[in-house]
Amino acid sequence: MTVSSAPGKVYLFGEHAVVYGEPAVPCAIERRATVSVERRDDDRLRVEARDLTLDGFTVEYSGGSADRPDVNVPTPLVEAAMGYIDGAVEQAREAADAPDAGFDMVVESTIPLGAGLGSSAAVVVAGIDAAARELGVELAPDDVADRAYRVEHEVQDGQASRADTFCSAMGGAVRVEGDDCRRIEDAPNLPFVVGYDGGAGDTGELVAGVRELREEYDFAADTVRAIGDIVRRGEGALEEDDVEEVGRLMNFNHGLLSALGVSSRSLDAMVWAAREADALGAKLTGAGGGGCIVALDETPAAETALSYTPGCEDAFRAELDRKGVRAE
Ligand code: MEV
Repeated sequence: MTVSSAPGKVYLFGEHAVVYGEPAVPCAIERRATVSVERRDDDRLRVEARDLTLDGFTVEYSGGSADRPDVNVPTPLVEAAMGYIDGAVEQAREAADAPDAGFDMVVESTIPLGAGLGSSAAVVVAGIDAAARELGVELAPDDVADRAYRVEHEVQDGQASRADTFCSAMGGAVRVEGDDCRRIEDAPNLPFVVGYDGGAGDTGELVAGVRELREEYDFAADTVRAIGDIVRRGEGALEEDDVEEVGRLMNFNHGLLSALGVSSRSLDAMVWAAREADALGAKLTGAGGGGCIVALDETPAAETALSYTPGCEDAFRAELDRKGVRAE
């Protein structure tokens, strides 16, 4: 049995705009997806998923969308999860030149599913790494990142950036602009607090919504460009360790994401609860529509305020995880 894990992430700045070539800065956090893989002697896949936000389910199938499992969890989530697993297995088979390899897989995750913390990227990254190693191939983290991006790009109908998958494979704070992906080596340890509303957004739909707005209104295209400007200013603030300025820019970034229609009542309520508790800044993270916000606060105040906010199901501190994908 071979086991790999990979971290989830929060977006300090730049989600959505990164899809259109603007820069983004996601940061890996210490919440991981772990994938255990054992080769079978036929070409089938058996996948057992144990997840924080889903009742566990087990499926056995031969891969391909015609042969979908019959399970009692929401179909789009299962379809997406299976798409990511199929894609990860396909990448490992290709890397090892073993097109017929079958696997028993167990997916365990402490990252809420579809909530803006990069759960799917972490599962794909850990899945590719574990399945390739089970077939005797060690992939470099940037190769895993590239393969994981191809999977996410396909599952998200060609509307994915490299940000989530690169961040999960490499760990730490990263900067992604188009195909140019790098680690920010000297990123400070930011005091992240996450609020989670228990929901999930449909990334494909939310990305498509922003695309339509951008095509219809010049000012929506300007808004996307303005997010890029915020990211560039934010990078300067990070370099200078100016955490207060980082927080102010996060607030701006949330306002612009809201203007693009990807916030929600519960995300806004959590953002305001954190701000009113004197967090340095707060914004939604990821595709939006529901899920998580990230705030910056060294004191316990924002976490406490979030835990009393109606609509907030969970509030927790999240440390920057400087390790990306790793063998367990
Ligand atoms: C989703 O986690 C982040 C988006 O920017 C989409 C992407 O970058 O692929 C909304």
